[in-house]
Amino acid sequence: MNQNETKELVGRTAVDALVKSGMKLGLGTGSTALPAIRRVGELLAEGRLTNIFAVPTSFQTVIECENRGIPLFTLNSKEIGGKLDLTIDGADEVDPQNRCVKGGGGALLLEKIAAYASSSYALVVDESKLAENLGLSFAVPIEVVSEARIPVTMALEKLGAEVKLREALRKAGPVVTDHGNIILDIRFTSPVDPVAFEKELNLIPGVVENGFFTGASKYPFKPRVFIGHSGGTVETR
Ligand code: A5P
Repeated sequence: MNQNETKELVGRTAVDALVKSGMKLGLGTGSTALPAIRRVGELLAEGRLTNIFAVPTSFQTVIECENRGIPLFTLNSKEIGGKLDLTIDGADEVDPQNRCVKGGGGALLLEKIAAYASSSYALVVDESKLAENLGLSFAVPIEVVSEARIPVTMALEKLGAEVKLREALRKAGPVVTDHGNIILDIRFTSPVDPVAFEKELNLIPGVVENGFFTGASKYPFKPRVFIGHSGGTVETR
C-alpha cells in the first residue's frame, strides 16, 4: 500500500472500531483524519450511524463535514456541554509511550482543546509517524500571538530550541492560523522531556498553545493509537 492508502485504511478502521450512534465526536485535522471523517459521513448516509454530534478542530474539518452532511456543533453548544465522548485525530510524531506532537497543519489549538475535553481519544497514524524521541526530527509547532514573535523566539532559544517562523505557501509572509496567530516551529538537537516542555512552553507570555500532547498537568491523556502499516494491517496500542 502507498502512504495515502495506508492513511485511508487506518482512518476508516478507527471509525469502524470506535464510533457509535449518539456520540459527541471530536473530529481532527489532516490527511489521516480526513478519511476518518469521510467514513463517518458514509456511515451516516447509509443509516448505520445516527445522532452524531460532531465538533470540528479546524476550518479544513468544517468544510469536509459540511461536504459530507455531518452535523456540526462546538464545545460550547448545549448539545455538547463542553465534553466529548471520543475524538479521532492524526499526529505528526508518536513516541513509544503514545505521547505525540501535533500541529503540522497548524490546527493544534482546537485539537488540544478537543483532546483534553474528550473521555476517550484515538490517534490515527501511518507507521512513518513513529519516533523514539519527540521534537528532534519533526519540529514542534508553537502557536504565538504575532505581536510577541521576537520575545517568544528569544525565550524558546533560551530553552535550547532552534526556532523557525512558519512561512505561508502562495501568500507572502507567515502562516496565519484559524485563530489569527502565527506558528513558530521549534526543533531540539538532543532529547527533551515532552511532559515538562508541554507545561513550560505555555508559561511564555505570548504563547497560545504548543504541539506537545502528553496529558501534562491534570488532563488524562491515554490515547489509543491506530498504526497503519504499508503491508495493509492496522496495529493498535
Ligand atoms: C493538524 O494541525 C495536525 O495536528 C495533524 O493532525 C497532523 O499534522 C497530522 O496530519 P497528517 O495526518 O496529514 O500527517
